[in-house]
This record gives sequence, structure tokens and C-alpha cells, in this order.
Amino acid sequence: MQFQEIKYFLVLCLLVPVCMAGQQKALIRIDASHEEAKVPSTLHGIFFEEISHAGEGGLYAELIRNRGFEECRIPQGTALQDGFIVPVRTPHFMLPGDKAGDWKMEWPLDKDAYPAWSLKTSNASASCFLTVEEPLNEATPHSMQVNINGVGKEGKADLINEGFWGINAVAGDEYDLSFYMHTDLSYKGDIIASLQSEDGRVLSSFRFKKIQSAGWKKLEATLKPSLSDPKAKFVLTFTAPGKVWVDFVSLFPAKTFKNRRNGLRKDLAELIQDLKPSFIRWPGGCFAEGITIYSAPDWKRTIGPVEQRPGTFSPWGYWTSDGFGYHEYLQFCEDIHADALYVFNAGVSCEYRSGTFAPDDSLHFYIQNALDAIEYAIGPVSSKWGKVRAANGHPAPFPLKYVEVGNEQHGPRYAERYNLFYDAIKKKYPQIIIMASMGIGDVNRNTTEKMRKIDYVDEHAYKPAYWAMNHFDHFDKYKRGDWDMYVGEYATNAGVGQGNMIAALSDAVYIMSMEKNGDLVKMSSYAPLLVNENDVDWPVNLIHFDASRSFARISYYVIKMMNENRASINLSTSVQVFPPAVKKNHFSGGIGLATWDTQSEYRDVEVTSNGQVVYKSNFINKPEEWSLLRGSWKVTGDAGLAQTAEGIQLLALLKNKTFDTYTLKMQARKLGGYNAFIIPFAVKDSNTFMRSHIGSWYNSNSVYEKVTNGYEVADMSVQKKLPLTIMPHTWYRLTLEVGQDTVKTFLNDTLLSVYTGPQTFFSIAGKDQATGDIIIKVVNAGDSPVEAVIQVDGAPYIRHEGLVSALRSESGTEENSFNQPGKFTPVTAAFQQAGAVFEKSFPAYSFSVIRLKTK
Ligand code: AHR
Repeated sequence: MQFQEIKYFLVLCLLVPVCMAGQQKALIRIDASHEEAKVPSTLHGIFFEEISHAGEGGLYAELIRNRGFEECRIPQGTALQDGFIVPVRTPHFMLPGDKAGDWKMEWPLDKDAYPAWSLKTSNASASCFLTVEEPLNEATPHSMQVNINGVGKEGKADLINEGFWGINAVAGDEYDLSFYMHTDLSYKGDIIASLQSEDGRVLSSFRFKKIQSAGWKKLEATLKPSLSDPKAKFVLTFTAPGKVWVDFVSLFPAKTFKNRRNGLRKDLAELIQDLKPSFIRWPGGCFAEGITIYSAPDWKRTIGPVEQRPGTFSPWGYWTSDGFGYHEYLQFCEDIHADALYVFNAGVSCEYRSGTFAPDDSLHFYIQNALDAIEYAIGPVSSKWGKVRAANGHPAPFPLKYVEVGNEQHGPRYAERYNLFYDAIKKKYPQIIIMASMGIGDVNRNTTEKMRKIDYVDEHAYKPAYWAMNHFDHFDKYKRGDWDMYVGEYATNAGVGQGNMIAALSDAVYIMSMEKNGDLVKMSSYAPLLVNENDVDWPVNLIHFDASRSFARISYYVIKMMNENRASINLSTSVQVFPPAVKKNHFSGGIGLATWDTQSEYRDVEVTSNGQVVYKSNFINKPEEWSLLRGSWKVTGDAGLAQTAEGIQLLALLKNKTFDTYTLKMQARKLGGYNAFIIPFAVKDSNTFMRSHIGSWYNSNSVYEKVTNGYEVADMSVQKKLPLTIMPHTWYRLTLEVGQDTVKTFLNDTLLSVYTGPQTFFSIAGKDQATGDIIIKVVNAGDSPVEAVIQVDGAPYIRHEGLVSALRSESGTEENSFNQPGKFTPVTAAFQQAGAVFEKSFPAYSFSVIRLKTK
């Protein structure tokens, strides 16, 4: 026996007694002399998109919503029809035969609407309406006209802005107010600007006297509230009869991130800064594409004086005033020492929206626009756009390092466009790294094959809970050498509510799989970054906020820990998990019957356990045994129970019976609809269960799924092709064999699939070559602790004192919140007994990082 083998044998001896005692054990073996892929310092960046009011009413610190009265505008390239905005019906980029798409979007506003503003009178008669008769400038054509017809004693008319679902007025803080106004000759009153509490108390006010002005005039003041109110409102009060026009009302906290004017909300910018992102991808996402090619963003419209920026319609259903424009974005990158990754429109709008595109012969305009953007960021001050940058207050170049040609565009037609952009950019800026976009979820070979040169491909990865555990080798399989990979958008966002510990641990495993493939995956960014809880456009996001509060989800702390403990090179690591001698029943619970967009009938439902029949259905005489929860369930002449309604998540559950290990048999036939049969098992309650779906994906696959929160469905296994097509009105035999940790599904005695549950214990290790530290990352996503032995070979010396940082929770469904923003944050502590072989316990639902000192 070699020394290493003897050591291994001794380690196994350490493990055996505890396994016998019924505990889960693991052995993590690290070979410090065997270095693997380097981990790039660029791995962790962030992705900012204008979604869920991430910028407008979020990171951008402006407090007045709809400040230019422009939110009612119909986006370019669309027309209002019967409550929908309908794009021009020109060909769709991805549809064959020059076909146009049929996408349209609900549009609740009429052309006279002014969201966030209202008029309230007291002992006065007044009205207000939008007008385009005397625009302040072309960018803000609408203004608000207030007609004050009569004012009684102490009477007044208040034009009120509610902010972004409240204005966070903080006692003693200063707020810079500015707005444009003009009056008719009859207006002889003052205008009082105030911040008022939700219940109408004046927190701070300023009286503009003798404001009569025939032409537009800018008024400015500073408001300093005496009391705090997170739901304050802004009010302009008129005290005399006459007509007043108002436009571009801005209220800005003096305290912004780095105290920049027109700057960013401090708490949110600091949370982002604390992640130490190596780059920022901006401005999207679908936002970069636009709902039509005419309404897509153009960086040139986002620079210069804010009141001259016309704003951009976000595909997520609202306008941004572009206060957080290209210049502010580049400034933010510089402020937090991140490189800029600018995504420009490739002359194509979002394929899930109109898919309209600029014709090939106008592409030179888009190419020039991208070159101009680069020149604005890094060109010398003597260049056309470098000069504009200097005039905007920043003569030095900004840290723009990357650009991306469109977002989620793909296919050979996109590849042709990409080649033109690539050549033109590289010719002028060989140092700029160019990202090729890809469709959601994969790297499309039929796209890459048509590209002449590729620096990076941008794979997007939105995955269900545990996907990362089931696909830990995802990146191992990619061929090396053709390109590097950027995972521009990733998140575990199905089967995890609005995010929870299981999402965070799945994200942790996903990041570990990227890190160990650092020779391929050089960059990544979680998506989406920010969500205003008052207008949520996407199910799972990283940082939550409202007008006054913010908190980061557990996934945020995972990313932070990963980045702060990023090794520079991987070390060869293997993990062996030893199941406990006394196994648990993983699928204990009730059973049910279900359908999804399908009508099906079930009969002769029978459960046997240990050779005994423990349940047999009798739908005719004992229908009350079943809870018919959703759908239209009826007992049939065949003594079956049929679900005949249209709809998803239609469910019946057997009442008051739970089983541990058992065989469930039944007959089933499809009556109509798209799919076939769904058999819930391991039912905890009507909102939480596993299910075997036979005939998923339009009756073509079978899959195991997990339902949480009643309606969220996550695939727990790969979708497997059915060996036969399930025909309507034909009876099939279904069998589920539910074991302690394995479930088997049979269709007419043919084994369809076996489910064994995801692996929940993962570890990788690497070395920080600057300090010599060995860094070990461990995820335990299981519901019980794992006692592990860590064996480090090939390190000449390891100090006895190590450091461990851990994030943990009691259950997989917990998450931070506004009330407890720091409930789940990493805790770091020193520990003794580190060495070449040592034991460590990893709690249930935990992510841990161990640092071992080798000097
Ligand atoms: O992150 C949300 C959206 O997901 C992005 O806009 C788009 O790129 C992706 O499909």
C-alpha cells in the first residue's frame, strides 16, 4: 500500500462508525499538487436591465414618477387598438416566408392619462389635463395644464405626485427640487412646493413668489423635511385663479451614491458595489432589443441634459426617462471599478415581441451607432464623440472593455449580421472583446457555425430548483478552443417561490460548475438584478426594494461569498457520499390525481404496501374519500373519476391517508386536451407535492416534477421521450413504485423512468495563488447534516487554524425579507484542528467556504 492509500484507508475507517450510526457522511479529497483550470478574475459581474423598475424608480435616484408627463405616449412603431398596442405588421426576423408576428400588448392607459399625478382641491375649483400645445422641448412634448377657476377663502388646488409608490422623505436630508412652469397673465398667485406625509402633514415646503411668466421658466429650491415618512408625496399648490403649465418636475435626494448629481440611490448602488463585480452588462436583456425596432433604445438619446432625453419604452411595460443613461452607466462602472459591457441593438427587436427588424441595407446605421458608442466611451477628446463625453464632464476614457451584438438573437441570419458588426468593431477597436448573443438556454451550433470569429458566446440559463445539481457536468461537455463563454443571465427561478435557500444552493452549485470550468466560462452575471416590489415583471430577482427599503436575497450572499473567495486555480477534488445505514423515506406523503390542459379519467386506484392492499378506490360508493380541489371531477359510469374541465393544475387528493413505501396502480384514459396523466405523490399538502407526469410536452414525454406554492412547477428530472403515443379513449395501466429513495413509473408495465432525487452534497477546491490559501467550497442542500472528512494531499504545510464562512437556514424555503433583511447572511469564524485530514460537519441547507492557510 502506498502512503496515500494508507491515508485513504484510515479516513474510511473514520467514516464507517458514523455511517453505522445513521448519519450521512462524505469524504472530500483534494490533491493540492494537481492544479486544474484557472479561475478567471472576471468570473463575477452584474447585469442591469430596466425591468421591474430596476432603474426608473429604483437605482436611479429620481423621486418623481412620470416627471415629464410622457408615460401616456404610445411606443414608436405601434398603434393603439381596442386596449392593446399593436406593432406595425412587418416581417418577423425569425419567422419563415417574411411572415409578421401577431404579438400585441395590453395598454391600460388612454392618451390623456398621467400616472402618478392627481389634482386635489380645497375650497377651490380647478381642473388639469395634458397638453401638447406649448411643449418645453421636443423630448418632452406633453406638459400639465392646471386651470384654477376660482379660489375661496384659504382655498387651494394641489397637483400631487405619489412618487414611485411613495417618496422616502428622511428628516434632515436635503432634496433638490426643479421644475419648469409658465402662466397666463391672469395668474397672480404663488406656487408652494412641499413634501407632505401620506396623511397630508407638511414636512417641508418652499413658496415661489411672483411666478408669473409668459415663457417656460425653471424654478429650483431645496426641501428639507422635518419628519420622516417613507410614503411621502410631492405637492405643488396653487393659491389663485389663472392658468399654469408645469413640466419636467424633478426631486432628487442630495445624498446619492458618491454624491453624484443625477446619481444613484445609495443603498442599492452600495449593495451592487459590495458584490465587487468585475463588469456591468447594460442595458438588457429584452430592453436592448425593444418591443419593435422603432422603439428600441439608442444610447445617443440617453446622454446630455435630462429634460432633453425623450425616454425609452421598456418591453416590460413602462417608460424610462433614461436618467440612468449611457454616461451615468459608464460613470457607475468607473465608480465601482467594474469594466463596462455595453449591449447594443443589432437592428432586431425582441423575437418574443414583434420581431421587427431593420432591413440589411440600413445596417450600416446600427454599425456606426455601435462604433460611436465605443468612441463616446473610450475615444480621445479630439474625436467627435470623445469630445461630447468631455463636454458632459468626463474627458478621461471610461472603462469600456466589452460589447455585445444584440440580446438572445440567434440563427444563421443573426450570424450574418454579427459578422458585419464584428469586423467593423475589430477594425477600429481591436482591443474590444465582442460577445455573440445566443438564444435562451444553449449555444446554438447553427448560429456559431455561421460566425467567422467569436470571442465569447453568451449562454443564458434560467433553471428550475436542483437543475444545477442534476447537471453539475454541464460545462464539462463543451468543446474547448473555439470561443470563451459568458453566462450573461443565470438564475434558479422555478419551483423556488420568489427565491429561497434551495434557489441559493442551486445557484451555488451552478457557480461551482462554472468555476471548475474556468478555462471555458470566463464571465457570468445573475439576472435580473433588481426588483421594485410594487411592479414585479419577473418571478425571481436578486435585490428587492421599495421606496425606502431594500434587501438582498440569499443568492446575493452566495455570489458575494463566491467572489470574495474566488480561487485563482482549481485543485483536483473528488467527493464521495456515504448514505446512512438507516435510510429515510424520502417520499412519504399522500397521493392524488391531476391533469394539465387535459381531460382524463382514472379508475381502480390501488395502493399496496408490504404485500397488503392498504387502499382501493371506490369512487361510486365512497367519493367522499377524495378532495376534489381544482377542476371539474365527476364519478363516471365506468366507476372512474374523470376531470373534464379546461385548465392547468387541476387536482384531486386522497384524504387523510399517507404512505411511506408502496406501489400505486391504476387505470387511466385520456378524454381530450394536450397532455395525458399526472400522478401526484409525496403529497405534503395541496400546495406541495411531487408528481409523475406521463405525457408532458404535448403528450410526448415523461418527467418527474415538483409543485411548490400550489402553482410553481419545476422539472426534477430530464424530460424523457415516451416509448408510445398515448391515444385518447384508450385505457392504460399506470404503476408507481415508491421506494425509500427511488420512484419508478411504468406505463402498461414498461418502465418509463426512475427518479432517485438529486445529489445534494457538492464540493470544489482551489488555491489562491497570491496568498497560498486552499479554498474549499461545500454545498449541503439536503435536509440533514453531513459529517465530512476532508483530506488534503500534496500540500507541504497546513496551519491548524482555518476559517469557515457559512450561510445556512432551517429549511429550504426560507429567505431574507424587508423585515429581516440580514436573517440569512454569511457568518465567519476561525476553527482549530485544520490539517491534512480533518473532520467538519456541514449543516442541512448550507453553503460553506473553508480557507486553509498553507504558509
Ligand atoms: O432577465 C430577464 C429577461 O430574460 C431578459 O430581458 C432576457 O434577456 C431574458 O430572456
